[in-house]
Amino acid sequence: MKRWMKYVKPYMLYFILGPLCMIIEVVGEVLMPMYLAEVINGAVKGTLTNEGSLWVMVKMIGTALIMMIGGVGGSYFGAKASVNFAADLRADLFKKVQGYSFANIDKFSTASLITRLTNDVTQVQMFVNMMLRMMLRSPGMLIGGVIMAIKLSPSLSVIMAVTIPLLLISMAFIIVRGMPRFSKMQTKIDALNSTVQENITNVRVVKSFVREDFETEKFEGSNKNLKGAGMSAMKNMIFMQPVQSFFMYITTGLVIWFGSILVINNFDSFGVNSSFGVGELSSFINYVSQILMSLMMVTFLLMFSSRALASVKRINEVLDEKIDIVDGEHADDSMTVEKGEIEFRNVTYRYYKNSEEPVLANIDLKIAAGSTVGIIGSTGCGKTTLVSLIPRLYDTDEGEVLVDGRNVKDYTLYNLREGVGMVLQKNVLFSGTIEENLRWGNENATDEEMFAAAESAQADKFVKNFTLGYQTELGQGGVNVSGGQKQRLCIARALLKEPKIIILDDSTSAVDTATEAQIRRAFREELAASTKIIIAQRISSVKDADMIVVMDDGKITGVGTHAELMENNVEYQEIFNSQISGKDGN
Ligand SMILES: Nc1ncnc2c1ncn2[C@@H]1O[C@H](COP(=O)(O)OP(=O)(O)O)[C@@H](O)[C@H]1O
Ligand SMILES: [Mg+2]
Repeated sequence: MKRWMKYVKPYMLYFILGPLCMIIEVVGEVLMPMYLAEVINGAVKGTLTNEGSLWVMVKMIGTALIMMIGGVGGSYFGAKASVNFAADLRADLFKKVQGYSFANIDKFSTASLITRLTNDVTQVQMFVNMMLRMMLRSPGMLIGGVIMAIKLSPSLSVIMAVTIPLLLISMAFIIVRGMPRFSKMQTKIDALNSTVQENITNVRVVKSFVREDFETEKFEGSNKNLKGAGMSAMKNMIFMQPVQSFFMYITTGLVIWFGSILVINNFDSFGVNSSFGVGELSSFINYVSQILMSLMMVTFLLMFSSRALASVKRINEVLDEKIDIVDGEHADDSMTVEKGEIEFRNVTYRYYKNSEEPVLANIDLKIAAGSTVGIIGSTGCGKTTLVSLIPRLYDTDEGEVLVDGRNVKDYTLYNLREGVGMVLQKNVLFSGTIEENLRWGNENATDEEMFAAAESAQADKFVKNFTLGYQTELGQGGVNVSGGQKQRLCIARALLKEPKIIILDDSTSAVDTATEAQIRRAFREELAASTKIIIAQRISSVKDADMIVVMDDGKITGVGTHAELMENNVEYQEIFNSQISGKDGN
């Protein structure tokens, strides 16, 4: 509750003015039937004059005008309050998700996070808006209606004392039955969004595998599930309106019957008043429908609140999620990565904390500042995982990772990651120009620095060949450049950060060997002071490194130069031989 007040407080004025304006409308609604009674009574008794009816018309129009102002004001302030409320909430959710570690995101799945930030927030926003418009209006109408009805005829009001509880019981029955159906619908929407998002994000893969039919079927599956859940919720809801109308007509029918008796006999059965005429009867009926209408609104609000509550729960989950990688307790803000020396001490890591076999087991490795290190090994042996521990994309389970002799947790995440440039295996570019994408690495870089980084990454030449050069617009994810070009842009982006440690995780796999050799040369010459870690499939990519690490099944099986490993590491020899024979085969 406290959390939600934060989004209400800045807009308190709107949150108060909205319902207040609505009261004006309510007062009007309560007054209108009185005017009607005046005219009808006058007509029946023959006392109605031209002036009298004109005066009633003026009063009605005047009241309608004031009601209109109240209604517009109420809607305006209600909208203003709820839209601002939702915008702030979304901003906070986004900020929170930005702080998520990889593990946090894995837990929710991307699609679910997107649904929560959009659909669920909208759901709550709509509820807040409706709430502001109804929360004083419906009870106001209800109380006003009841007071007026009792004033008109206490005995007739007894009818409502019987029918309304019956109506409420049947409504409660429908709502209680409906709530779980709506929560179920929400999860089906989640599943549908997940299917759509995954498919559209990866539409190129789908098309290249000609799996449109399969994907369509999968979609139809989730669509059918959602339809089913929607139908089930609807099958319950369809009773709401007719049942309400039924009670409305029963009540009205009873009121007309008893009311007519009163009118005909000219007395109230309680003997209180005998001035109950046709006019009073007609306004009484008006109040009855007003009372039932306001009850309808309240039940509708309740119904809606159950949907909104499901969304609130999902939003709370995102906000409550404990971010598992944060600045260490003793993190020193003044400390930055200076040299780029790295050490792994007895490091063990598991993605799933209860799995038996660790992904990395007892890793010990020392990497000198400014050196070039190659890491090679079969896919799935843990290379990416190993280097992810350096910028703390994941935290070790056992042992520690040190940079410049200090535990990585002693640095703030910001300083650590500023010092470590990592080109991920599955890297993406963003929609925007090439320049914008490169500057993403360092927005303060000068043009010269940007060109130099692009040159080192061997991206300069092909970018200049584009008609618009660095101003070329990239599609989402970088779809309009080739795989190799994309990799080089990603490398340039990382270089622009001038990191003390640069990690290339299989980042040149789509680059031809000649260009790759040029990148390596540029690295050696221009990044002499930085520590360079290169994960690769090809021996040629790591051959010249100062040190090569061979990994297998989460363990390091050999460390040395190319020559040394060729001497004493069977695995390295095997990889070497397979690639040589591969070449022969070509
Ligand atoms: N996000 C993840 N969640 C769970 N398991 C993962 C995750 N990423 C990788 N793994 C598993 O960890 C092991 C090592 O993966 P990885 O370090 O990516 O290998 P490599 O980079 O050497 O190909 C693999 O068995 C892989 O299935
Ligand atoms: Mg990998």
